[in-house]
Amino acid sequence: MAKIIGGITTSHVPAIGGAIAKGLQQDPYWKPFFDAFVPVRHWLAETRPDVVVVIYNDHGLNFFLDKMPTFAVGAAPEYRNADEGWGIPQVPAFSGNPALSWHLIESLVGEEFDLTTCQEMQVDHAFTLPMALLWPDQKWPVTVVPVCINTVQAPLPSAARCYKLGEAIGRAVASWPGQENVLVLGTGGLSHQLDGERAGFINKNFDLKFMDSLVHEPKWATQFNTHRLVEQAGTQGVELLMWLATRGALGAKVRELHRNYHIPISNTASGVMLLEPVA
Ligand code: DHB
Ligand code: FE
Repeated sequence: MAKIIGGITTSHVPAIGGAIAKGLQQDPYWKPFFDAFVPVRHWLAETRPDVVVVIYNDHGLNFFLDKMPTFAVGAAPEYRNADEGWGIPQVPAFSGNPALSWHLIESLVGEEFDLTTCQEMQVDHAFTLPMALLWPDQKWPVTVVPVCINTVQAPLPSAARCYKLGEAIGRAVASWPGQENVLVLGTGGLSHQLDGERAGFINKNFDLKFMDSLVHEPKWATQFNTHRLVEQAGTQGVELLMWLATRGALGAKVRELHRNYHIPISNTASGVMLLEPVA
């Protein structure tokens, strides 16, 4: 049986790509951010996942406002990055895992998640930059299954629904007859708002409570509807739904192996967590 060996949650700010391109990892602004990934990479070197299920939100590269699926799963043999206008270099293509993708799709649709299936799919900064933080040489040693959750255009799926999607992903992986070790990577957040009257909004108290809740009280954030989540985390901070879905996939209990929280990176409160399921 395939097995989920861990969950990593992280922010995905485009400026990270600029910092990587310019080699600014030791720069005083960037060092506290990049250093937070060293323990995560040590864990990856030990545990060597075969597949990464990447839960993220596309920002207009693959889906635009004219066609916006609530949930979408990639089932392509390969996923390429493309220019989003941030001025950051593109990364090498990622190898897909169509067999596992289709199993996930069958299983999730079987559980009444009505997904969009994507046999062609471009992946944006929310996918590529967290992968580049985990594997800085960008020689991806894993295959990938992209899972997109819409946090860009109203109406968004609720926090409760995203948690349930994660739980269903957990069951789908557990029922896959392969022997793969699977990592779930959720990217987005933490609190940030890029536009409107509250542009620059960050809510440290909420972020810290949210991170704690993933360990001790995983369904805590499912009490919030979309408006209250936006109020607490900012219009783009709702990307923390990816963290919630990731946590759902890990089962009832987790062990926290690593955590970092740093304000700000660009306009965003950035965070990273590494969680291991406890049987
Ligand atoms: C920023 C954050 C994001 O989540 C994103 O997708 C784009 C930009 C930022 O803080 O600059
Ligand atoms: Fe984003």
